Amino acid sequence: RMTATMESLIGLVNRIQRACTSLGDYGGGDNAFSSLWDALPSVAVVGGQSSGKSSVLESIVGRDFLPRGSGIVTRRPLVLQLQKIDDGQQDYAEFGHMPRRRFTDFGLVRKEIQDETDRITGKTKQISPVPIHLSIYSANVVNLTLIDLPGLTKVAVEGQAETIVEDIENMVRGYVEKPNCIILAISPANQDIATSDAIKLARDVDPSGERTFGVLTKLDLMDKGTNALDPWVGIVNRSQADINRNIDMIIARRKEREYFATSPDYGHLSSKMGSEYLAKLLSKHLESVIRAKIPSITSLINKSIDELEAEMDHLGRPIAVDAGAQLYTILELCRAFDRIFKEHLDGGRPGGDR
Ligand code: GDP
Ligand code: NA
Ligand code: MG
Repeated sequence: RMTATMESLIGLVNRIQRACTSLGDYGGGDNAFSSLWDALPSVAVVGGQSSGKSSVLESIVGRDFLPRGSGIVTRRPLVLQLQKIDDGQQDYAEFGHMPRRRFTDFGLVRKEIQDETDRITGKTKQISPVPIHLSIYSANVVNLTLIDLPGLTKVAVEGQAETIVEDIENMVRGYVEKPNCIILAISPANQDIATSDAIKLARDVDPSGERTFGVLTKLDLMDKGTNALDPWVGIVNRSQADINRNIDMIIARRKEREYFATSPDYGHLSSKMGSEYLAKLLSKHLESVIRAKIPSITSLINKSIDELEAEMDHLGRPIAVDAGAQLYTILELCRAFDRIFKEHLDGGRPGGDR
């Protein structure tokens, strides 16, 4: 169970990340902002088309809101920020492209993702690298940034550019090669794992595997007796028939739990299987990543607004209208982070606490 302190620290990191996003992109290089950016982990899914990526993300969030189905459904990156709010408050969602509209109907969130995808690509099978930004506020989420991505493919189909195979791979690579990106490498259990594109790409950008989690979906479709093994987390998402019958998340999770509890193959592993376990595993990992990054956040706090402004001038001003105020917000958030850290975690010594 994550401590309340860690939860609020991660919540602050999420808010810092949002503020940074609206400041604009400072590009690579070694500056105050890139080190802050490095301190902000995200989780991205990698895998073949229809391997179950969107289903896994949805299930980590615990809400129904992502377009999913057979064929190429996810056609633009979706950068999804989860923000924990107080118990008893209603869940809601907000899009970056519609800042003042609060969505409380998650069916409409799904529709808006589809519509916003089509606004750039048309109702085609084409993809676009332009991300959709979505925030979900809920008492039942852990603070995480999740990135849904189009699936890797082997060949272009009709209506797609000849270059689509490389285009998708490059797009995915752009997210997962960042050292602060945690990779969910998703492979369906009914295909040969040895040829998994997810694993191939993950190994390429993270050879040691230290930031990769292997997820095996569609365990329910796997031949009996061919057990999934450590270190994979096995998952049973909704089938297409379940989707067509509007089976909701609560029923889906119950079915998944029952599947593992009664499975002759995985019964003994049932405490280390399933979507809820995966979500817990991720938040634990995130906690340790943030713990390790505390020094780079505290070093930013020691810079003054003037210093940061000078640094921004040097880098070239971003497009953001009110960059000064945003900078101030970021610094205030960093100071809040520092305060909580010092008050609750071992006098400010990084990595302290337990
Ligand atoms: P994505 O393309 O990788 O994002 O995959 P989706 O999440 O859109 O799922 C693709 C299709 O596979 C949908 O029809 C899902 O219902 C189905 N699917 C995903 N996971 C599972 C699973 O664990 N079991 C079964 N039976 N079907 C699944
Ligand atoms: Na799909
Ligand atoms: Mg998808």
